[in-house]
Amino acid sequence: MENTTGTIRLGSENFEFPIIEGTEGEKALDTRTLRAKSGCITFDEGYGNTGSCISDITFINGEKGILRHRGYAIEELAKHSSFLETAMLVIYGSLPQKSCLSAFRKQVRESASIHTGMHSHFDGFPTSAHPMAILSSMLNSLGAYYPKMSSNNREQDLAYFDETAALLISKVRTIAAMTYRMKMGLSFVHPAEKRYTENFLHMMFSEPYSEYDDKHGAGKALDLFLMLHADHEQNCSTSTVRMVASGGANLFASVSAGVCALWGPSHGGANMAVIKMLEEIHAAGDDGSKFIEAAKKGEAKLMGFGHRVYKNYDPRAKILGKSAEGILSSIGMNDPLLDIARKLEQAALEDEYFVSRKLYPNVDFYSGIILKAIGIPVEMFTVMFAIGRMPGWIANWKEIAENPKSRIHRPRQIYSGETQRDYVQLVDR
Ligand code: SDX
Repeated sequence: MENTTGTIRLGSENFEFPIIEGTEGEKALDTRTLRAKSGCITFDEGYGNTGSCISDITFINGEKGILRHRGYAIEELAKHSSFLETAMLVIYGSLPQKSCLSAFRKQVRESASIHTGMHSHFDGFPTSAHPMAILSSMLNSLGAYYPKMSSNNREQDLAYFDETAALLISKVRTIAAMTYRMKMGLSFVHPAEKRYTENFLHMMFSEPYSEYDDKHGAGKALDLFLMLHADHEQNCSTSTVRMVASGGANLFASVSAGVCALWGPSHGGANMAVIKMLEEIHAAGDDGSKFIEAAKKGEAKLMGFGHRVYKNYDPRAKILGKSAEGILSSIGMNDPLLDIARKLEQAALEDEYFVSRKLYPNVDFYSGIILKAIGIPVEMFTVMFAIGRMPGWIANWKEIAENPKSRIHRPRQIYSGETQRDYVQLVDR
């Protein structure tokens, strides 16, 4: 490292700060003492230039389109790993030994059932409720059934961490399937002795008279989808999980907040918005060019495009684009939405507006086409993202909880409201 300090000049005064350097050479000026030294804070609305933590979990180089979990490239994980193995890697830091992976799979399999007391919680929701509202409520309620694991006493919550992590990874999938069945007016299907995604598809689509038959490899495609969503450093929902965890809240409460943050269309909700956009384009008989023109005029956003960090192709979108073609051809389905998506992508990659702003397809651009082909209803798409992101939220909660130096997250602000004024009595207003 050449420089170990950097200087900020305010008026005639110089203030010196250490430079922190990460293992991939990224640098940050550590301005934590700036206000104490100078009276100034740094201002960075939207946190586009703010490092909120030092983390060992995921590395992204947005300019080069690189994504690695614990040092392993996403392309290699997509080729060789599985969702549960990647979950262990993300949470515990290394690829698990065979025996550890088997034990984890077993623990996840055996944690799939939901306490019958919670079954009645589903009755409290109208069938029109959004699945993300149900998921967030249910994850928080789940903590109430495991008081020892959700004590908000950090030492105690950490003592139960392994159990809680496996339980959440398992039960988030059961809750998702139960949510779908409740909304459809169908009876719940109990988990079976199956692999992770096969079990999910069974709980979603099996009927007492006919067991779901995965003849097109939907389980495999879903496993890849989940793995590609496993973590993505300090995105909106993960930062929310860390924020909630920083106050000492338990893992159930923290991931429940993460689900709420993920829901928005600028974040995980984009996977629903992409399909709606493609369907609208298809229904209007447009090949995408009118939509591109509207986006350029600022009248619409090309959903599934653009990213705060990637100024290059999101590597997950490349993998998902190929996977979408694979699952569609295995089903023998010709989805016109995939053709529209390919045309939109091509047009956007050649258009000056998108090129100059470095807007490329992100993870949400092709994921909906895969989910749709598998038979997942559009309303459930963001729930699927949440199932995939659970390991990342858990790993980030763990980093906060295990750090003895971690402090409550409490940003400052620049106040722009009224200055002090005298109270006016009601009769005088
Ligand atoms: C995810 O961060 C993560 O890691 C998130 C995620 C994860 O794994 O957790 O990767 C998952 O959330 C992916 C993003 C999903 N959202 C969308 O696909 C929605 C559409 N995209 C956007 O609204 C937008 O690109 C964001 C929210 C993703 C990023 O927003 P930024 O970083 O604040 O970028 P910006 O709004 O400042 O845009 C810069 C310029 C603007 O134009 P100018 O004002 O400079 O003229 O690009 C334009 C924007 O108007 N722009 C778009 C656009 N996205 C940005 N124009 C048309 N269509 C778009 N999609």
